[in-house]
Amino acid sequence: MRILGIETSCDETSVAVVEDGFRVFSCVIHSQAKLHEKTGGVVPEVAAREHVIAIIPVIQKALLDASVSLDQIDRIAVTKEPGLLPSLLIGLQTAKTLSLAKNIPVTEVHHTMGHIYSNWLERDPSEIQFPVMVLTVSGGHNDLILMKGHGDMELIGTTLDDAAGEAFDKVARLLGLGYPGGPAISEAAEKGRRDAYNFPRAWLSEPSYHGGWDGKVFNFSFSGLKTAVRKVIDENRLPDQNLCMGIKGIGDKFVADVAASFEEAVCDVLSKKLLSAAEMYRVKEIHLAGGVSANKRLRELVFERNNGGFVMRYPIQFQYCTDNGAMVASAAYFP
Ligand code: KG4
Ligand code: ZN
Repeated sequence: MRILGIETSCDETSVAVVEDGFRVFSCVIHSQAKLHEKTGGVVPEVAAREHVIAIIPVIQKALLDASVSLDQIDRIAVTKEPGLLPSLLIGLQTAKTLSLAKNIPVTEVHHTMGHIYSNWLERDPSEIQFPVMVLTVSGGHNDLILMKGHGDMELIGTTLDDAAGEAFDKVARLLGLGYPGGPAISEAAEKGRRDAYNFPRAWLSEPSYHGGWDGKVFNFSFSGLKTAVRKVIDENRLPDQNLCMGIKGIGDKFVADVAASFEEAVCDVLSKKLLSAAEMYRVKEIHLAGGVSANKRLRELVFERNNGGFVMRYPIQFQYCTDNGAMVASAAYFP
C-alpha cells in the first residue's frame, strides 16, 4: 500500500510517499527554522502562513521524487494532533481537499504515533521484536510508551511540565545560541565541561525500600532545570545585560560549560528512566524517537548504560528524528 504522508504540526512542511509502512520512496521537508530564528521560537500565525505557501510545492516534489502520480496513491495520512492549531489545519484541509478531489481515503494520525513509527522507516518490520520501550522526546512531547504490538500501547510516563526539546530551545535562547536550540546546545557543549555545574535532575521519586519503584518514577520534569540554568546565567551576566535578549558576548567558555552541564542533566535523566522502564517491563527493544533523539550525547549515554542488554534503535536517518511526513505515512499503515 502506497501512502502519502502529510505533516504540518509545527514548523516543518513535510510530505512523503511510503510503501507498506517502511519503504520510503520520497520524503521532502521544508524547514521554517530560518524564519523563526528572529523570534527565537515559533509564532503560530507565521508558521501557518508559511505552510500555506509551501504545502502544494512540497506535495508536488514528494510525488516527483517518488516517480508516482496522485492516482497511484492508495491513502493519505495526515497529522491530526497535537500541535499548533493554525499549522495543523493547513495539513488537514489539504489532505481532505485532495481526498475529495481524487477519492482517496484519509487517515488522521496522532503526532506521537508518527514519531513512534519513525523507527520503522527503512527497516524490515519483521526484525523489530515486541515489546518495545519507546522514548519519544521532542519540543512538544516527552513520553515513555510501552509498545506491546501495533495498536497496543501503554503510556507509562510523560512530562509534568516542559518537554526536553522545549528546555533545549529555552536554554539556547538564554545563552544567545539561536533556534532551534537542540543542535546549537550540542555544538556549544562539545567544548564545555559536563561537570562544570551540577544542575538538578528531577527523578521525581526514589526507589522504595522494597526495591521497587513508585508509579510516578517514569514521569519527567524539566522546568526546575531550566530555572537553575537561568539562575546561573543571571549570576554571571554583566549588570547591563538584559537576560531576555540572551547573553551573547559573555564568554564562550561559560556558554560551553553551561550548555554541556545542561545537556548532561537532561540526557542523564532520559537515559536512566528509559533503561529502568525497559528493565521493569522486560522489553526486548528500546527505541529513541523525536527531535531530541538526534542528540549525540543522549544516544551515547543510552548505549553505554544499556551495555548491549536491549536491542537499541533510533531513526535510521537524522531527518526522521524531527518532524517528517514519512513517519506519519508509516503510522497510518500499521493497524
Ligand atoms: O520532533 P520535533 O521535530 O518537533 C516536535 O514534535 O516538537 O522536535 C523538535 C525539538 C526541538 O525542541 C529541537 O531543539 C530538538 O527537537 N532537537 C534537539 C536536537 N535536534 C533537534 N535536541 C537536542 N539535540 C539535538 N541534536
Ligand atoms: Zn514532533
